[in-house]
Amino acid sequence: MHRNNRRRWTVKSSLSRLALLASGALTAFGAAAGLAPATATAAEVVVYCSVNEDWCREAVTSFERQTGIKTLMTRKSSGEVYAQLRAEKTNPKADVWFGGSGDPHLQAAEEGLTESYKSNKLDELYSWAAKQAENSQHRTVGIYMGALGFGYNRDLLAKRKLTPPACWSDLIGAGFRDEIQVADPNSSGTSYTMLATLVQLMGEDAAFDYMKKLHKNVNQYTKSGAAPAKSAAQGETMVGIAFQHDLLTEVLAGAPVSIVAPCEGTGYEIGSMSIIKGARNMETAKAFYEWALTPEAQALGAKVKNYQIPSNAGAPIPPEAPRIDKMKLISYDFARYGSTAERTRLLGKWDREIKSLSK
Ligand code: G6P
Repeated sequence: MHRNNRRRWTVKSSLSRLALLASGALTAFGAAAGLAPATATAAEVVVYCSVNEDWCREAVTSFERQTGIKTLMTRKSSGEVYAQLRAEKTNPKADVWFGGSGDPHLQAAEEGLTESYKSNKLDELYSWAAKQAENSQHRTVGIYMGALGFGYNRDLLAKRKLTPPACWSDLIGAGFRDEIQVADPNSSGTSYTMLATLVQLMGEDAAFDYMKKLHKNVNQYTKSGAAPAKSAAQGETMVGIAFQHDLLTEVLAGAPVSIVAPCEGTGYEIGSMSIIKGARNMETAKAFYEWALTPEAQALGAKVKNYQIPSNAGAPIPPEAPRIDKMKLISYDFARYGSTAERTRLLGKWDREIKSLSK
């Protein structure tokens, strides 16, 4: 058998075993709980998904096809899923939270909203992804990485005869009044990454001063983190602050957008995955989790033009992926900025001091 075929077969057969295991466990559970076997054998898993919609769809259809486990999915931004898990704490409606920036996953972990689960694939992962698991007593794990930045629409910039922005400091210039879009950090993990990045880069007081000035130039705080990248591509805003891989998707689709890794330095996300505490479908949740850590599953992002760096060292890094090694990355303190105390405090302060500010 050709090596790749054999590998594919092994993954497939172990996934079928997982599916069998999953339905077996459900059958046993169903019998113990006095449920009719027909209910118990209908293996399913409910996923809250915080990567882009196209990747969410690709992931669930592939998983369903490979395992026969019925997979239901809802796409929501990272901060929104965190809030939903809190609201559903006593009656969880989903089993797995797939993707989204790591800070809200860490906060959910600290608050016991997610389940501790140690995958045997941890040693296949890059250290930044495994560390996310260690930092959370295995209540979350890294599945990809990506750096923050911004993109500007070259046509709009040329029309306004502005110098291309290269630094965070350029974005507060008077020329960019109402020309910048960024998400709301309460709903969006991307935007919280920006908030925490600026605090780490500049110090808290200077970062809030900066965001007050930036606020004058912001035309809209969107719900999702990738929306400003799409708006810049469509010429609805001149500048969109977003993860660089989200901007790249637009550039490769032909948008007249240039991507900037800010000159002062920038932060990054460790996109994460967690099993939800009290999941009704715990066995299929674990099957999905294990599958999502395989190199084959991690290659699906790039297949649908999502160019993050996958966490499994055996997964190919998309050649298009923004070159992290060429950027000035801060040493992002995930344990601190993903903690309940710090995330709640900073978001409260942002609401009071920035969002409510008149322009
Ligand atoms: C996009 C990016 C992901 C990121 C996610 C966060 O989907 O491609 O890398 O994790 O946004 O979403 P949010 O809407 O919470 O900012």
